[in-house]
Amino acid sequence: MDIQSMTKKEIVGIIEDNKGNPSRELLEAAAKTRDKYYGKRIFVRGLIEFTNYCKNNCYYCGIRAGNTAARRYRLTKEQILECCDEGDRLGFNTYVLQGGEDGYFTDEILCDIIGDIKHKYPDCAVTLSIGEKSKESYKAYKDAGADRYLLRHETANDAHYNKLHPDSMSLENRKNCLYTLRELGYQVGAGFMVGSPYQTSETLAEDLLFIKELQPHMVGIGPFIPQKDSPFADKTGGTLELTLTMLSLVRIMLPKVLLPSTTALGTIDPMGREKGFSAGANVVMPNLSPADTRKDYALYDNKICSGDEAAQSIMSLKERIERAGYTMDMGRGDSLMN
Ligand code: 5AD
Repeated sequence: MDIQSMTKKEIVGIIEDNKGNPSRELLEAAAKTRDKYYGKRIFVRGLIEFTNYCKNNCYYCGIRAGNTAARRYRLTKEQILECCDEGDRLGFNTYVLQGGEDGYFTDEILCDIIGDIKHKYPDCAVTLSIGEKSKESYKAYKDAGADRYLLRHETANDAHYNKLHPDSMSLENRKNCLYTLRELGYQVGAGFMVGSPYQTSETLAEDLLFIKELQPHMVGIGPFIPQKDSPFADKTGGTLELTLTMLSLVRIMLPKVLLPSTTALGTIDPMGREKGFSAGANVVMPNLSPADTRKDYALYDNKICSGDEAAQSIMSLKERIERAGYTMDMGRGDSLMN
């Protein structure tokens, strides 16, 4: 399937044909593409959700500023480092620091945390996922030792973006952030929710075309799941089938990309993670956050955060990965993309 050279109209056609049920041909092409470059290795990253304070008000998200029902927390630097220590004991070599856009964490504080992690674990990769910042801030984190940055674009269609976000946010700024991060030498991750309100096959095709243009090292895709205290509480969630279709298409579009089988996918289907692998995914991000804060990082309802989601269950995650026919790789797992 030569999706790289397809027009938007042709991509829309493929999405339409596969949205209710990804064809076996599509899934196999995606899995084969992954195997060609990465083999059957599944990379693991330790996820540390260090703050659920956020100044933004994205309509879909449970930690939006306007959600007064959210119980807010911040981890201290010491707690974050303890998460890394725990990760190190468990064999992790990459840490993802994810949080809302929380002004408490100034660049100075963040750089100090990044520097301390890198000092203690020089060979590990540090990934940030803390939203839209200035070029100067991104550069400061890079200089402090950050290697990677995840910033989902959420949707590449301007009108759609404005239906998911308040006027204070813009797709233009989001895209600029991604290009800036690239330019600064980060391994960059973009991505989007599948089945978000007002999404169409056309906007999904635009997501694929944007990804083709940006050439990110990583792409995070998971189903939209309604959150009860958000403006989108009553909207319909994204399906497993369409998520698998989009994972496959991203894999075929960017053969060397690192593609997580996300927590959201594992939340809507007990075998979601494994099904993601069958659609070309090759990363999982178990949770290293302190057990008592995990449930408060509630981007959406019913988020799984115990069992094999917990980094502490790494051995059982390993078994699951092996049962599905893959091997677990705890190395840094750098992207093969340039
Ligand atoms: N359902 C699924 N994913 C969500 N995210 C935020 N809210 C939801 C939701 N209700 C995703 C966004 C964000 C990432 C951290 O989590 O895509 O970029």
